[in-house]
Amino acid sequence: MPATGPIPNPNRFEIQEYALLKESIVQSSDRPQHTFPLEAWCIRETSFDTASHFLDETLFALGNGYIGLRGSHEEGYSGPAGTSLDGTYLNGFYESEAIHYPEAAYGLAKTNQFMLNVPNAKGIALWLEDERFDLLEGKLDRYERSLDFRTGILLRTLEWTSPQGRRVAVTSRRLVSFDDKHLFAIEYEVVALNFSGRVRLVSSIDGAVKNIEAGDDPRVGSAVSGQSLRVVDSQLGPNFSALVQRTSNSGFMLVSAAQTELRGIYELSQTRSEQRLEQTYTVAALEGEAVRLCKFGCYYSSRDYPESELMARAKETLALAQGQGFRALAQAQEQYLANFWQQADVQIAGDDALQQGIHFNQFHLLQSVGRDGKTNISAKGVTGEGYEGHYFWDTEIYIFPFFLYSKPEIAKKLLEYRYAGLAKARERARQMSHAVGALYPWRTIAGEECSAYFPAGTAQYHINADIAYSIKLYMEATGDLDYLIRYGAEIVLETARIWIGLGCYDRAGRYCINQVTGPDEYTALVNNNYYTNAMAQMHLNFAVAIAEQLQAEHPAEYARIAALAGLDAAEPAEWRRAAALMLLPYDEALQIHAQDDSFLSKKKWDFAATPKENYPLLLNYHPMVIYRHQVCKQADVVLALLLLSEQFTLDDKRRDFDYYEAVTTHDSSLSSCIFSIIASEVGYHDKAYDYFMETARLDLDDTHGNTHYGVHTAAMAGTWMGVAYGFAGMRVFDGALHFAPTLPKQWQHYTFKIHFQGALLEVRVEPARVEYRLLQGETLGFHHHGERIEMTLATPVQSRSH
Ligand code: BGC
Repeated sequence: MPATGPIPNPNRFEIQEYALLKESIVQSSDRPQHTFPLEAWCIRETSFDTASHFLDETLFALGNGYIGLRGSHEEGYSGPAGTSLDGTYLNGFYESEAIHYPEAAYGLAKTNQFMLNVPNAKGIALWLEDERFDLLEGKLDRYERSLDFRTGILLRTLEWTSPQGRRVAVTSRRLVSFDDKHLFAIEYEVVALNFSGRVRLVSSIDGAVKNIEAGDDPRVGSAVSGQSLRVVDSQLGPNFSALVQRTSNSGFMLVSAAQTELRGIYELSQTRSEQRLEQTYTVAALEGEAVRLCKFGCYYSSRDYPESELMARAKETLALAQGQGFRALAQAQEQYLANFWQQADVQIAGDDALQQGIHFNQFHLLQSVGRDGKTNISAKGVTGEGYEGHYFWDTEIYIFPFFLYSKPEIAKKLLEYRYAGLAKARERARQMSHAVGALYPWRTIAGEECSAYFPAGTAQYHINADIAYSIKLYMEATGDLDYLIRYGAEIVLETARIWIGLGCYDRAGRYCINQVTGPDEYTALVNNNYYTNAMAQMHLNFAVAIAEQLQAEHPAEYARIAALAGLDAAEPAEWRRAAALMLLPYDEALQIHAQDDSFLSKKKWDFAATPKENYPLLLNYHPMVIYRHQVCKQADVVLALLLLSEQFTLDDKRRDFDYYEAVTTHDSSLSSCIFSIIASEVGYHDKAYDYFMETARLDLDDTHGNTHYGVHTAAMAGTWMGVAYGFAGMRVFDGALHFAPTLPKQWQHYTFKIHFQGALLEVRVEPARVEYRLLQGETLGFHHHGERIEMTLATPVQSRSH
């Protein structure tokens, strides 16, 4: 039997060999990388392209918040080195590694955690007699692949002629189940078009997988080389295969299993090597008749269940899935998505590129978000290894609002995750010399601080306020007192205490927070970062309000929480005082909020002398060079203008926007959406639109040039904020919803929906009017350009002019 391992991936394509590639394989120089037709509900490629392959693996990735399968082909890939990363990820499943500092210091993060590339269980190799199907050999007569946001199916159809002239049609459908986080399924169908003969399908689980290495780019994978998962056992039955592996350091066990099913007559053989399991189905195929293989795959790890249960659970999941069949799973998937879109759909009429971008972003957010309370949403979701699968403040400040207002039950799961990390945040606070309170890690998977570069990591203490902010948002939108009492209050109070341990009063009696880094990572370790201080003030006031409310209304519960945290009765008064005296840097001469005490005294970055290829600056200048200049990677003060909107006048906002726009590179993908929102608010409509466009198709158009390492989940959610907070002017303050809608001149109308206080409100903005429609709930009061509107079941529709 010929070898059936993965297609070797050597650097074997010399220039002449490229010339021999078939017409349907277009080189990158021949076409721009992104020529998806502009369809509202799907992305579709009609040619196979090695040059965009790495990127396409991200764009066509499937996920369910737990499993992530990159859009690599079932049959493997023989293209040039560096054009593929056939990755499979499990949200929150990680290996840990000691961080080695050539010069260590007390309290630096000790151990890194990184999301592992786990066994590839989706492999299906195809043989026609003794010829192996390879997208890069023979002739691709037709090729089409689409990812449909309403069905959740990755569909590939193609016709191929082998080097010896055998023609086949191949159709594969793939899904990663939203209903069962452990499950994925593939339906793979082959039709011999001009011959009858032996067709072999080789289903595999490949455990010889590795993570990519980071090199010099801090945004790429981990510093680890070699294989992290060791095989400890395997099982191979006629239709069932499973690899059992263990991580070396984090000590987790993983079962990767698959069940295959082929109807009809076949011969079956099995091959087992240490890291690879294969089942080979040989069929005497008749011309024109379909051979169909269904493959159900699943992953179970000891992060979720006791080791002794993993195999049994895997078998049960697979048996159940097989019992249902691929088609039933596909139907369930479609139903799940119908429900999601019914609540979350943002419609934009008048710009097809944008509509596609927005749906793509919303779909990928849903695919990326952990919803089991034990996992969160990483900067790249489960689509790639960028940022090592870490969770950042991206969740609370960028992504949380999208879920809160579109699918509140998922937002609640994100909060649960932070509660689960509270004990570790307390530990971290002690390591950082805080006698009381809790300090959340800047980046983490399982709750420990994983940031190896503290100036742009641990120093971002604002993470504490960001988490408190998301709880505040949640409370305003849901009024979920039970959550507050059981979890939220403890987090808010414990994290608020850090500001007291961290700050101090200066000689003028102002409360200062020194030596921290704000959101802008091109400025580090400064005193009185405006964003940090203003958010800390909000946080402290929120903590006081919660303490007072619980003390008055739920004294026993308050006593329990206070006892748990060892809270002193005098502390809330300290919080109030620090908040009241908080130093919020303001420059009288420029009439703007200063980013920190020293920012405005620094030399301005010479943008005119910076060549285009020197962006992002972080890859081309030593951090100190960047830090000593007035230059921002991303929104900082401008972000405070959004989150604490009611504290600023419109003139404040305009002056701050003008100043900081001129010194911001937007090298971070978290930046443009915030600038779009504030531009919209201050009436810079063209700018608002341009910044919005940058965010909306950031991954589809790969504008940051690194989407092949994974999608940018914060920016994706930033698109949603750009519509709701930006063009529709949505804000929540004093517990009430406010809108101030505008319509970009490029659009005919747009519509989105908001869950708020048990109601579901649809907002439709047209050229001359805005229509509000109560889709669920009995009443809802909110403000439209300052005017109070009360909606009830009796009057579920209200129209207003802009
Ligand atoms: C940004 C951070 C962000 C991180 C992960 C960095 O480039 O500066 O604000 O948290 O990416 O998305």
